[in-house]
Amino acid sequence: MLLEKIKLSLMEKLTGLKKIKTAVFISGTGSNLKNLIKFSKIKKAPISIDLIASNTQLAKGLKYADQFKIKKKIFNFKNFKDAEKNLLTLLTKEKIKFICLAGFMKILSKNFIKKFNGKIINIHPSLLPKYKGLNTHTRAINNKDEFAGCTVHYVTAKLDSGKTILQKKIKITARDNPFTLAKKVLEQEHKIYPAAIMRIFN
Ligand code: GAR
Repeated sequence: MLLEKIKLSLMEKLTGLKKIKTAVFISGTGSNLKNLIKFSKIKKAPISIDLIASNTQLAKGLKYADQFKIKKKIFNFKNFKDAEKNLLTLLTKEKIKFICLAGFMKILSKNFIKKFNGKIINIHPSLLPKYKGLNTHTRAINNKDEFAGCTVHYVTAKLDSGKTILQKKIKITARDNPFTLAKKVLEQEHKIYPAAIMRIFN
């Protein structure tokens, strides 16, 4: 343990690098989480993932906490106020400075967001400001849109409305259905989420 600490501080001294302690909030599969963990391990990545939080123990992505030996914690949002209070306490204890929402399906309160003002980002599966909320791919197909896509944006009190950091457009083909489209968009999400983080910190 002590040796690890010494090694780490030596590494920081030699490289001049100190990564920003980051938490990822998830509710589901966690493919973006896995992708962010892998990204965080490359030398030039500005963040380290030190905490994974979820509103449900059914989130499949929680397995990555065990796989990559990252602290995980589940919060019961049935009591929203308590969940956020406990979450904030843990974030402070773990010295978390940055939060990435990755398929987190709860809407954080104004008060919570204020405490991490400008330090929470989210990935959303649409070309915001189009299709805030759920079922983005079905809505894009039903509206016969030519393009779908994904957006990384800052989180503000208004749902899916904060400033865009990065966005990627993809063409919707005649053969697409919500599942094929979700798959194609997810592939792009995995590219733009790390790229957006690089853009913020470099
Ligand atoms: C992703 O497509 C993400 O953009 C979306 O949930 C999926 C999570 O996938 N997020 C939202 O809809 C948030 N409003 P993952 O669990 O495999 O990362």
